[in-house]
Amino acid sequence: MSTDITPDTEQSSEPSEPSKDGPLLSVENLSVQYQLGRGMTGRAKTLTAVRDVSFSIETGRTLGLVGESGSGKSSIGRAILRLAPVSGGRIVFDGQDTATFGKRTPLSFNRDVQVVFQDPMSSLNPRQTIATTIGQAITRHRPLSGLERDREIEQALDRVGLSGYHADRYPHELSGGQRQRVAIARALAPRPRLIVCDEPVSALDVSTQSQVINLLMELQRELSVSYLFIAHDLEVVRHISDDIGVLYLGQMVEAGPADQVYRTPAHSYTQRLLASTLVANPARQAARTAERRALGADA
Ligand SMILES: Nc1ncnc2c1ncn2[C@@H]1O[C@H](COP(=O)(O)OP(=O)(O)OP(=O)(O)O)[C@@H](O)[C@H]1O
Ligand SMILES: [Mg+2]
Repeated sequence: MSTDITPDTEQSSEPSEPSKDGPLLSVENLSVQYQLGRGMTGRAKTLTAVRDVSFSIETGRTLGLVGESGSGKSSIGRAILRLAPVSGGRIVFDGQDTATFGKRTPLSFNRDVQVVFQDPMSSLNPRQTIATTIGQAITRHRPLSGLERDREIEQALDRVGLSGYHADRYPHELSGGQRQRVAIARALAPRPRLIVCDEPVSALDVSTQSQVINLLMELQRELSVSYLFIAHDLEVVRHISDDIGVLYLGQMVEAGPADQVYRTPAHSYTQRLLASTLVANPARQAARTAERRALGADA
């Protein structure tokens, strides 16, 4: 995994103006470029996965990021987490340009920005009970007595709809949806301000998907945490997102309020993304066509 951070020196040399009043996260003209080693000609090859992408997320709000496989969604999430090489633009979190961190990420940033991945089976330690995993996440940033820690583990599990029964289980003893609840509890344990959710429901069946999305929405109302919510599918991000950005070949081809992007997609790629969901589910297609007709949009 590459941790090479290549800040845009021209832009990062500008004095950053810490402003607690601005958006929590501001991504400005971000480009992500991977070094691919040397080809047959011996020349170093690069791949630009993200090109000139800008968006911002306010406290307690959600930006949904959609696009087909390879469009650069995870690269953006990983750049925010400082795990992908930034080749241009800047990422400003809570008024601070993250390029100014250099190689040492401040503890406060590591606490404030958490992640939930698609596959909790590979992101949870298979040899640890759920209580141990959550306990570690809680005490990593806050020293607590054993008793306090146990109480917080119980609260953390309760908050995501799990109980003491689940605390003593191992990841393989839980269902996919329960494992994802554990991953969410773990991400919330340090009391973060932003969670990058990289396809957190893509591996779940449809009814479990909506339960997990509802849970994330409830937690947001309770805790005012912000989400960057990544998915393949507009249908999945529609309910949870305040705004939606549509990525195509590394570029943001459409962005706006969630309902507007969904109901009146301006870009032909967004229309195709919607169409592919429509074909996959004829019942939903009929309902959606009627809904959009009623709103005066092209069905
Ligand atoms: N570490 C890496 N080194 C080289 N190329 C990479 C690396 N990570 C991603 N890429 C390339 O960057 C592009 C964008 O990948 P990314 O994982 O960001 O897409 P994605 O939208 O998240 O796709 P998916 O929906 O399949 O998860 C792809 O062409 C991918 O092959
Ligand atoms: Mg991805």
